[in-house]
Amino acid sequence: MAGGNAVVLDDPVGASLRGHHAHLARGRGRAVTYLPGVATFSAVPAEPGAAEWADLTRLLGQGEFADMFDCPSIPPSHWESVFVLEGRQMIWPGPGSGVPSQAEAGTGMVELGPDDVPGMLDLAGRTQPGPFWARTLELGTYLGIRDNGTLVAMAGERLRPPGWTEISAVCTAPEARGRGYAARLVSALAARIVARNERPFLHVADTNTAAIALYERLGFETRKPVTFRGFRTPVSS
Ligand SMILES: CC(C)(COP(=O)(O)OP(=O)(O)OC[C@H]1O[C@@H](n2cnc3c(N)ncnc32)[C@H](O)[C@@H]1OP(=O)(O)O)[C@@H](O)C(=O)NCCC(=O)NCCS
Repeated sequence: MAGGNAVVLDDPVGASLRGHHAHLARGRGRAVTYLPGVATFSAVPAEPGAAEWADLTRLLGQGEFADMFDCPSIPPSHWESVFVLEGRQMIWPGPGSGVPSQAEAGTGMVELGPDDVPGMLDLAGRTQPGPFWARTLELGTYLGIRDNGTLVAMAGERLRPPGWTEISAVCTAPEARGRGYAARLVSALAARIVARNERPFLHVADTNTAAIALYERLGFETRKPVTFRGFRTPVSS
């Protein structure tokens, strides 16, 4: 079967930062985070103690944003909570599930590169698919669809724990919705991921019923509920 052990999906940020994305990571002690402009996600080892949280404070700085993604461990009580968001992790269940059959030829999809970043930032700003920054496209392949030269839909690869690739930044401009662009882009990315013997997965907020319906129609199944959390590192007096 294509892809790897799903256990790595319980720490997708840490597994990516210590593996495929090590060239985009910075660390201090046992804490790791992405380089500025790539992503804000940080990771600490499983069941972290005071030393690991202190490592993360030293890494990020005092009073700084600590985006813990779906980390189940809660920092010490003097860390300020910035956001809590309930969501789900979805996986493509494997061969025979149908999704990665999309042919890319003739569909108007293009691979996006550094010259497309302004358009990608604009589209992400208008549609709010989740965090997207000037260097986020360095995490993987991003595909887009243009309408009269303007980028109106995109999707790309983000976290990359061993054997898996996360599909992210799935968004379509409001005026171009309902044309099947998101379905086409997600299918094309999933097909590429499966072709290199990995499996696609993704994350979505529970309130995003339109996106959940789209992913389920493409064959994705919910693996587990997740809670996304962000904090502010403490300032010592
Ligand atoms: C979710 C989202 C990416 C869907 O994009 P899209 O290109 O419209 O999606 P598709 O056309 O491929 O298909 C979506 C489904 O919803 C329907 N749909 C979506 N928007 C629609 C609209 N404005 N009018 C009519 N139907 C619409 C489509 O018909 C399709 O259903 P169907 O296959 O049963 O007919 C888009 O709504 C979006 O950008 N949302 C904001 C960003 C976001 O939440 N991204 C997901 C993060 S996990």
